[in-house]
Amino acid sequence: MIIEPVIRGVIARSSHPEGCKKAVDNQIEYVKSATPIKDGPKRVLILGASSGFGLAARIALTFGGAEADTIGVSFEHGPSEKGVGSAGWYNNIHFKHRAQQAGRQAINIIGDAYSSETREQVIEAIETYFEGEVDLIIYSLASGRRTKEDGNYWHSAIKPIGESVSGAIINLETQKWENTTLAPATDDEIEGTLKVMGGQDWENWIDTLINTDSIANGCKTIAFSYIGPEITHPIYLDGTLGRAKVDLHQTSHALNLELAHFNGNAYAAVCKALVTKASVFIPGLTPYLLALYKTMKEQGTHEGCIEQMQRLFSTKLYGQDKVPVDGERLLRVDDLELDPEIQRQVAERLSQMDESNFKEIGDFDGFQQEFLNLNGFGLEGVDYAKRTDVDKLKTLTP
Ligand code: NAI
Repeated sequence: MIIEPVIRGVIARSSHPEGCKKAVDNQIEYVKSATPIKDGPKRVLILGASSGFGLAARIALTFGGAEADTIGVSFEHGPSEKGVGSAGWYNNIHFKHRAQQAGRQAINIIGDAYSSETREQVIEAIETYFEGEVDLIIYSLASGRRTKEDGNYWHSAIKPIGESVSGAIINLETQKWENTTLAPATDDEIEGTLKVMGGQDWENWIDTLINTDSIANGCKTIAFSYIGPEITHPIYLDGTLGRAKVDLHQTSHALNLELAHFNGNAYAAVCKALVTKASVFIPGLTPYLLALYKTMKEQGTHEGCIEQMQRLFSTKLYGQDKVPVDGERLLRVDDLELDPEIQRQVAERLSQMDESNFKEIGDFDGFQQEFLNLNGFGLEGVDYAKRTDVDKLKTLTP
């Protein structure tokens, strides 16, 4: 079959396996030419390894100087009668292939990271492939729900707290600007978002690994956060997601104390706003992303997930006498985004942007291109007119 992009609203319903391969290869190529990671970790567990920051971290740590072996956990699906499968499924397959070619171990565990079954599989994999210990745990899950012990779910909601907020999303299917007004979250929604995107599950993972003696001496853990400029605070930092991120920051301090027993550390790394499967859902954030991309590209400071991760590991987390943190002990890789001159220009663009001109004032082409790339489409060097043998795809395993 010929695989075409199928987009519903802000969700991609198809992915292109060859394009996903190319996107992974492009990231590998980038980290090989970037400032290398020195004194990096050798055995890494990545929760949320198949896309966005988690995948970029995995690529950076394997190919960007550390030569790490990795166990990656993700929730992805392969080809079935419903479709060709998710981009993350093919990212996992191709990453593993490339890692093995480079002589590295790459174990993919497909399952619900919130479930005890997946935890058991991970512990077993650490025993089997890592001689029982990990040097770094990356917590990069982005999910709309978290499974409870009894099989029910907590659900996250992206909403303001206290008062309504208006903002636009860009519907990627229709390429139209859609104004939305979000009512304030209920107490249950605030609680649900905390449970899904806050620090509790991260802490549970680290506790599990401590209890199973899987933490190596000097082991670190990081989770990713976002703060953003004031202009995004009503929907992000002051809303449900921001509440969950503050909880994640607090968890990093608690985990730092726990890991001190192993000469290790825990950090929350504050990253840049980027187009990922998860972020295109956030109302009000897309116009900001369009203005930010346009401005940072003009100024030559734009970074994607891979540039962010390589910089985080090579200039902040490893190879330094002291890990550079801010007054709240946060690792900041959002410094270029928050540069005052960048923010001044972003604010100016946003003040002019509306439904009639967002494609010109903002970097809509770049935004759309990146969204397509995430799903394996629109990549240079891929022959999209070529038929894909779906039966062959079914034989590939992550
Ligand atoms: P993403 O959607 O690209 O990746 C999420 C990963 O989590 C995927 O590998 C997915 O398979 C996995 N996952 C989701 N539910 C799972 C489950 N139940 N079990 C196992 N794996 C599961 O998301 P992205 O954007 O890379 O987000 C990762 C983290 O980075 C999040 O904490 C997010 O808040 C944070 N972040 C994102 C920013 C952005 O602009 N995209 C900015 C700053 C922080």
